[in-house]
Amino acid sequence: MPARILDGKLIAERLQAELATGVRAARGHGHRAPGLAVLWVGDNPASELYVRNKDRAGRNVGIDTSLSRHLSGQVSQNELLGIIDGLNADADVDGILVQLPLPAHLDSSIILNRVDPDKDCDGLHPINLGRLVRGEPGLRSCTPAGVMVLLDEAGIDLTGKTAIVIGRSTLVGKPVALMLQEKNATVIMAHSKTEDLGALTRIADVVVAAAGRPELVTGRMIKPGSAVIDVGINRIIDYEGRQRTVGDVDFESVREVAGVLTPVPRGVGPMTVTMLLHNTVQSYRQRLGLKDFETW
Ligand SMILES: NC(=O)c1ccc[n+]([C@@H]2O[C@H](COP(=O)([O-])OP(=O)(O)OC[C@H]3O[C@@H](n4cnc5c(N)ncnc54)[C@H](OP(=O)(O)O)[C@@H]3O)[C@@H](O)[C@H]2O)c1
Repeated sequence: MPARILDGKLIAERLQAELATGVRAARGHGHRAPGLAVLWVGDNPASELYVRNKDRAGRNVGIDTSLSRHLSGQVSQNELLGIIDGLNADADVDGILVQLPLPAHLDSSIILNRVDPDKDCDGLHPINLGRLVRGEPGLRSCTPAGVMVLLDEAGIDLTGKTAIVIGRSTLVGKPVALMLQEKNATVIMAHSKTEDLGALTRIADVVVAAAGRPELVTGRMIKPGSAVIDVGINRIIDYEGRQRTVGDVDFESVREVAGVLTPVPRGVGPMTVTMLLHNTVQSYRQRLGLKDFETW
């Protein structure tokens, strides 16, 4: 039987609607709106698309995004740090996101590390990554957290399961491996030096592919009935000369073997934005002490 396809876009829409309900309830009790400031530097067209999506999604759930700023590509490091300091100190701001990549003259580590960890809605600050390593509460990085929500939506109990994460980046692979362990999975981490990837994926009940290699994982590498989450986003030119976006999973062959599969697009991507909004609302609730306005 072909795999059940998880529609990340539909799930994201439902979860965003739940967030909107929570925000409306808080507003109904006289509280301010959650505040998200997205800082976008320079004119990278891909960044423009991402920033617009985040801004629109934020407004749809009732988040105030009016403090977001588009800064000149010539902005100095000190100016940008000053802007972040201002947002850190602003009581109406719950989430700060610096859109990457930054122009080459800016040091991304110094800039990202300046964001108040409790407003780090991207969950990439070393303090938040450290909290994840230590199993402490904190803002979790968006794409890995989105993968975990998808597994949960698929009704998969990870306890005792064998999971493989393909890719060991700080952005995706490492945090998702920690999150899987937190849920009591036994985790294998694969990377570009891994020998015989197929032998490892074939014993896994859960495969998270985050290598950035088009259609790396094929049906022959998959254990029947397993759950396969495709994080990859790869732009390729297909054999007919058309540009297409594909994941790290060969969708057609894997869907014949897996039990659950996420597509690309409409899989993990929409969950990443949803988790950004979730983190902003979580930070808002904590800042205002709004325990009564639970969101999912
Ligand atoms: N859906 C979303 O919202 C979202 C968000 C973030 C990223 N992504 C996508 O996810 C993918 C990974 O992103 P990333 O930022 O983690 O990429 P990255 O920083 O380039 O890391 C890729 C990882 O994959 C490993 N790798 C490369 N080729 C491999 C192979 N043949 N076999 C096994 N492992 C291999 C690398 O190993 P080494 O460490 O040995 O080099 C590395 O650890 C990309 O396609 C990216 O576009 C999607």
